[in-house]
Amino acid sequence: MIVTIDGVAASGKSSVASGVARALGVPYVSSGLLYRAATLLGQEAGLDLTDAAELLLHLRSRPLRLEPLAGGNRVWQGDRDLTPDLHASGVDSGVSVVAAHPDVRAWVDGQLRALTAPFVAEGRDMGTNVFPEAPAKFYLTASPRVRAERRARERPEDVEAIEAALSRRDALDMAQSAPAPDAQIIDTGPLTLDGVIGVILAALPA
Ligand code: ADP
Ligand code: CDP
Repeated sequence: MIVTIDGVAASGKSSVASGVARALGVPYVSSGLLYRAATLLGQEAGLDLTDAAELLLHLRSRPLRLEPLAGGNRVWQGDRDLTPDLHASGVDSGVSVVAAHPDVRAWVDGQLRALTAPFVAEGRDMGTNVFPEAPAKFYLTASPRVRAERRARERPEDVEAIEAALSRRDALDMAQSAPAPDAQIIDTGPLTLDGVIGVILAALPA
């Protein structure tokens, strides 16, 4: 079976997906890493990120591999592990432009749909677009402030700058970030990480 966990930036998707997947003994898949990898490679090649055709040509020339490890997903290009560079703030600020291109979305979706179930998939449109048939769907939210405070523990920038960048990215990602009509919405603000994982595990079909 496939469990989908979507939500806004820094709402807890990857940490929660990792915990749920561990409890179920299945892998989890971070779709955002593929958008981040596309952005990083485009930036490194000095490409115009608004030019989808040029970017896709570049991406197809040297394929990426998403490795769905339980301890944290990794993205490889040949023997280069791109993962340590994927959460730089330069990637944060370019990724929504890349993710807005329909052809880039199709490139990511194709890679995700080729994976073998069972797994937990997290991102923005796992429950709506990529795996609409999934029997268990969740959508995580939290206020911009709570999310910025959490992310500030992982980034060098201050909380105000992070909150502004998150809100900007939420707005740019709006088109692909609507919850599925059959998703359970969870505000992670008042909950601990284990609390969110527990809510999801309790809601899964037997
Ligand atoms: P996303 O994948 O949505 O960007 P992350 O999984 O990276 O979010 O979570 C951001 C941070 O918030 C992580 O360090 C995570 O441990 C922390 N966090 C703190 N409390 C919670 C909670 N109640 N639910 C989810 N994540 C939480
Ligand atoms: O962890 P965070 O929510 O900050 O980011 P992410 O999940 O790694 O996603 C990075 C970016 O990829 C998002 O801001 C979206 O622009 C894009 N994305 C998307 O469009 N669709 C997805 N399914 C996943 C990510």
